Amino acid sequence: MANEPQADGYESFYREFDSPLMRRLRREAYGEDIGQHSWVGSEELRADIHRLGLTSSSRLLDLGCGPCGPLTFVVASVGCRATGLELSPSALKVGRQRAAVLGVDALVSTRQADLNQPLPFESGSFDAAMSLDVVLHVRDRSTLFLETSRSLSAEAKFLFTDAGVITGAVSNEEMRRRSPHGFTQFVVTGWNERLLERAGFRLLEVEDRTESVSRNASGRLAAMTAHRAELEQASGAAAFESQREYLETAIELSQRRALSRIMYLAQAPARSAG
Ligand SMILES: C[S@@+](CC[C@H](N)C(=O)[O-])C[C@H]1O[C@@H](n2cnc3c(N)ncnc32)[C@H](O)[C@@H]1O
Repeated sequence: MANEPQADGYESFYREFDSPLMRRLRREAYGEDIGQHSWVGSEELRADIHRLGLTSSSRLLDLGCGPCGPLTFVVASVGCRATGLELSPSALKVGRQRAAVLGVDALVSTRQADLNQPLPFESGSFDAAMSLDVVLHVRDRSTLFLETSRSLSAEAKFLFTDAGVITGAVSNEEMRRRSPHGFTQFVVTGWNERLLERAGFRLLEVEDRTESVSRNASGRLAAMTAHRAELEQASGAAAFESQREYLETAIELSQRRALSRIMYLAQAPARSAG
């Protein structure tokens, strides 16, 4: 949220994720700090728990769990078991600490994994899957959807959000400013729907959540600006500037409805693929 790195995706940012300053920024930015590093808010997540039909006997898979904020929030709310996959070791370290502090570590397992590779699970291992603001970083989401379908039990739900759906005109300069976290792929409306269908999913619901980007980015920008001196001291003026540019561009694109954040809820086939 604050001064993020340019060269290593989210990694070095996650090392400071739970420092007192970062916690304060998240509280000021989101209202409720659930340890998210995305456009997800607690209210949205509560509704998504219901959408996923989770119960205490569910096995949930979180693809790209980051520092396990949303994942531990769901587990603490529902009492289900959950597995988080994530590329960043620092995020997973913070995530395990968070699970322990919340007293849900016995229910949560984490694994470092690259979502560009086949998922490291037997077929039908999970009853639900979520992926919050991650798919735009995956090079081949078509294969990821197939792998997700394979990893789910019959008719299990898969919910994901994509903040990179092109719904208007976006310039090359805006694309650059909007992608400071490494590989980022923007797709046109209908693209995710087609790939889900190809992976055997039945689309149940699509919801436009673009407003959450504008709201949360504005909150993050205001919090950063209020703590500018401390942030610049911690990570330097260049990092502050890059993050400011990123958030301002996210706000501009979402308010113009040029780039949208969309939620997709889909159901795995009656017989899991594979
Ligand atoms: C915007 S963050 C969202 C984190 C978390 N879902 C949340 O809502 O707080 C995107 C996450 O995707 C992870 N990620 C990006 N590319 C990945 C990949 N190829 N495999 C696994 N995780 C990846 C990043 O490290 C980052 O933690």
